[in-house]
Amino acid sequence: MHILMTGASGLVGTTLTAELRAAGDTVNRFVRPGTDSTHSNSGDVTWDPQSGEMNLPAAEGADAVINLAGASIGGGRWTANRKALLRSSRVDLTEHLVTALARLKSPPKIFISASAIGFYGDRGEESLTEASSSGKDFLSKITRDWEAAAIKVEQFGARTVLARFGIILSKTGGALPQMLTPFKLGAGGKLGSGKQWMSWISLDDAITAIRTAITDANLRGPINIVAPNPARNADFTRALAKVLHRPAILPAPAFALRLALGEMADALLLSSQRVIPEKLTQQHFKYQYADLESALRRALQ
Ligand SMILES: NC(=O)c1ccc[n+]([C@@H]2O[C@H](COP(=O)([O-])OP(=O)(O)OC[C@H]3O[C@@H](n4cnc5c(N)ncnc54)[C@H](OP(=O)(O)O)[C@@H]3O)[C@@H](O)[C@H]2O)c1
Repeated sequence: MHILMTGASGLVGTTLTAELRAAGDTVNRFVRPGTDSTHSNSGDVTWDPQSGEMNLPAAEGADAVINLAGASIGGGRWTANRKALLRSSRVDLTEHLVTALARLKSPPKIFISASAIGFYGDRGEESLTEASSSGKDFLSKITRDWEAAAIKVEQFGARTVLARFGIILSKTGGALPQMLTPFKLGAGGKLGSGKQWMSWISLDDAITAIRTAITDANLRGPINIVAPNPARNADFTRALAKVLHRPAILPAPAFALRLALGEMADALLLSSQRVIPEKLTQQHFKYQYADLESALRRALQ
């Protein structure tokens, strides 16, 4: 298969590219102006996601496009400028991408676009499937608009998958490296009440889920890419402490997290999302790491 990818230099993109290439697929990146082009290959597509300008001929004829781009959600305090960037690098970027793909003579038949379980907002004890409604906070709204921009690809007949990722466990990216710091200082502990649900997935299983979404024509629309066993924050914290052989005795009160991180604290650390991978389960998806402790061991290997 010939696959084009945005966000290819990120955590998911790097691993996915390596696996697809190892399996014999051709993967080309969308390369943004001013980004490192050291690893560029012939066939890569130069584009400016802010204006939507793209080297269209280079994008002709791909079988699938995988859209993983987006400025890091946890990469800095949510000032007004940062929030605008989080939104534009997802919603505007995806709108521009879809508009450009629609102009191709030979558009892709498959479009996989990243999304996030942030779609659901803070939902307490509720079990959330792909059919659940979206939340009302900042991340929910971005995610809803991001998905709405992506699904427009169906207008030219491409099968579209909205990959609602949970917390992807890896020591090289995502949220886990930031969670490790307090433990290394001997100051790890539950966050807030510790009762909030965290829906996680190993990087290996997230990559397999995307590869399944590329090839399995039964998968379309939103897919929860999470393990079948979400954990409460207190249990997640205990499992992490056990794997790290460190104590987990210093809880971080909600007010302190809010003071340190502002709005991000509620959205990323204190909100509760108990997400069920209903569609993957219906497709008999086989998890390599369905159990949290084994997933954490694998991530920290
Ligand atoms: N990791 C998780 O736990 C998790 C959870 C839920 C959802 N997601 C979503 O899944 C997608 C992939 O996740 P990831 O962990 O691989 O993300 P990542 O490591 O942060 O990589 C995202 C990529 O997006 C591109 N990018 C960064 N800033 C950008 C900007 N301002 N404008 C346009 N493009 C920009 C970069 O790729 P290029 O330089 O190659 O363009 C970057 O490598 C992201 O959209 C993320 O929000 C991830």
